[in-house]
Amino acid sequence: MKIITKVNTLREEIHHHKQSGGTIGFVPTMGYLHDGHLSLIKEARNNNDIVVMSIFVNPLQFGPNEDFDRYPRNIERDLKLAENADVDILFMPDSEEMYPGTLSVAMNVKERVHVLCGKKREGHFDGVVTVLTKLFHLVQPRRAYFGLKDAQQVAVVEGLVDDYFFPVEIVRVRTVREEDGLAKSSRNVYLSEEERNEAPAIYESLRGAKKKIESGEVNTSAIISDVKEFIHNMTSGQVEYVEIFTFPELTPFHEWNGEIILAIAVQFQKARLIDNIIISLDKKENQHV
Ligand code: PAF
Repeated sequence: MKIITKVNTLREEIHHHKQSGGTIGFVPTMGYLHDGHLSLIKEARNNNDIVVMSIFVNPLQFGPNEDFDRYPRNIERDLKLAENADVDILFMPDSEEMYPGTLSVAMNVKERVHVLCGKKREGHFDGVVTVLTKLFHLVQPRRAYFGLKDAQQVAVVEGLVDDYFFPVEIVRVRTVREEDGLAKSSRNVYLSEEERNEAPAIYESLRGAKKKIESGEVNTSAIISDVKEFIHNMTSGQVEYVEIFTFPELTPFHEWNGEIILAIAVQFQKARLIDNIIISLDKKENQHV
């Protein structure tokens, strides 16, 4: 595995690789790797000639009161995991390398961001698309891999790539879960023992709702309030939102067809957990609001 920290070195390496005509699979991360990331690497490994992974905790996507300084980091462990997962190139720039000066052109996401996490994290997705634009231009991947746990991120990145004709295919990768159903996340380390025991209720609530929808429930308010009540009864966390939208447009809908997302965020003492379920529906007769 080649470890690269400089933009110019990466450019040279990618140029060299492109000349040989091989495909590049790209896995952008902020490090503190877990099985979710490893599943992205595995997918990339299976479908491309080489795998490039980036580890960069992108300051631009953290709000002033968010956890940039305490975002978990463990570079030595990450290096071992990346090496074992057969990553070919690991790009690990520092902030100075990625943002050497003030940006003269700013990116601003207009759609898919005024709901779910975007509602509370103003500017977050602007930071995400900014860093991904830089990374996509540097790495020039044929495919880039994103976990569906951050479904809103997937939706926003698909919008970016479609709008600006990036020659990259965004591959959606299923959420990897602990045995008890909790979605794997770097932020799970912030949970207390008690909260960790309660947290699987989040996925359980989503599964329950999915079953109801699949067996014909079309009343969104009832589905949402059942999920909220379940979380309230089973955990000490505060529900931040439970919402249902079309996917990936993230708009409200009146007809039950196509892909919909049921998404949830729960605030525990130090950890804010998100999860979702995407349901593919055949056209249903019933209209609903
Ligand atoms: O999902 C993440 O870890 C980040 O948002 C990403 C895609 C690496 C951009 O910084």
